[in-house]
Amino acid sequence: MAIVGAGPAGLLLGLLLHNAGIDAVILERRSRAYVLGRVRAGVLEQGTAELLERAGVGERMRRDGLVHQGFELLVRGRRHRVDLRGLTGGSTVLIYGQTQITRDLLEARGAAGLPTIFEAQDVAVQEFAGAHPYVSWRQDGREHRLNCDFIAGCDGSHGVCRPSVPREAIREYERLYPFGWLGLLADTPPVSDELIYVNSERGFALCSMRSRTRSRFYLQVPLTEEVSHWSDARFWEELRQRLDEAGRERLVAAPSVEKSIAPLRSFVVEPLRFGRLFLVGDAGHTVPPTGAKGLNLAAGDVHCLADGLIEHYSERSAAGIDDYSRRRLRCIWRAQRFSWWLTRLLHRFPEDGAIGEKLQQAELDYLLHSEAGMRTIAENYVGLPPTFGEEANLLLRK
Ligand code: APR
Ligand code: PHB
Repeated sequence: MAIVGAGPAGLLLGLLLHNAGIDAVILERRSRAYVLGRVRAGVLEQGTAELLERAGVGERMRRDGLVHQGFELLVRGRRHRVDLRGLTGGSTVLIYGQTQITRDLLEARGAAGLPTIFEAQDVAVQEFAGAHPYVSWRQDGREHRLNCDFIAGCDGSHGVCRPSVPREAIREYERLYPFGWLGLLADTPPVSDELIYVNSERGFALCSMRSRTRSRFYLQVPLTEEVSHWSDARFWEELRQRLDEAGRERLVAAPSVEKSIAPLRSFVVEPLRFGRLFLVGDAGHTVPPTGAKGLNLAAGDVHCLADGLIEHYSERSAAGIDDYSRRRLRCIWRAQRFSWWLTRLLHRFPEDGAIGEKLQQAELDYLLHSEAGMRTIAENYVGLPPTFGEEANLLLRK
């Protein structure tokens, strides 16, 4: 196998395949230090945590990760707790940063002596429509080539794999949002034991965490904003204004460790397989971060593809890999819908006018006071199982 991209998707796929005796080489454009330094999200669904465990990298995650049984919605100054555990029959999420996951996966890869080529230039995926695909790249001024059975495009939203597919073979679905998230990471204790998603008149905010001493915060900002306009002091002051009294009391400002702006986007391509090339994780889809689905969807793709490939190599059945695109797209669209919906529910959309705001408040008023409403948030947040609805279909067919 050739795997393009050493993000969480590529690294996890590589490890699962190795554990099953399937060789894979990972090609990564960036340096090892760059990959290790990236700050991303950190909410793991139970299925994602179990898959990391199956890959053999669960130890630190189970030790340092924080189990969260719920989170809070702070809407126009009032808090409402979403009791994930109570509303879903026992499901929880695990707070463990993607940066740590990447480190754990890279360490496991190193310990097993698996090949990862960093700073590979001009990676190109070739001949995947036929039986003999290969990947080419340049390094140290030399051309390299790897022949393989399959290529896994795990190269994120700005990679090379997706653009290599002929335009007529692929369909793109996209929605851009008129704002981004300004994120700040700081060594300061979380303002609450659980995450707080804030819908305020000044815009959305999120108080998240990486540990009991490290916190991650986000503010909705217009797309025209630049990080350089946001001193730490300005960030903390704006966050204070979006919080309630209890939040302000517990907020301890500290120097930022990282600060960046990310635009929000809903994006999916169909299908996810082109001959011997598979698109996996952000290479095939991007969600706005509001529902914390990005990493979990990537892990779901990896799970499905790894099992399909293992079936292919061990039983000589192509059923798993043949069904990869269809099975994953169903989960992906479900998570896209939830992420889009939660984004609409919690952010300010000035262009929707006064009626848009009133309708949003009415929807929140309903959801927050209805058990059915709170359950719909909870069951999507903890993650619907990949087989969701299939039992019912089977019953109907009987
Ligand atoms: N050649 C080689 N590697 C590449 C190329 C290229 N042309 N283009 C991109 N890459 C690498 C990137 O440098 C990055 O390390 O592919 C990797 C893609 O990793 P991610 O962007 O982390 O994507 P993925 O592994 O699918 O992880 C999905 O991470 O980005 C978050 O929100 C996302 O949580 C989700 C999860
Ligand atoms: C984060 O901690 O970075 C985070 C948490 C929850 C989200 C998005 C990001 O919905």
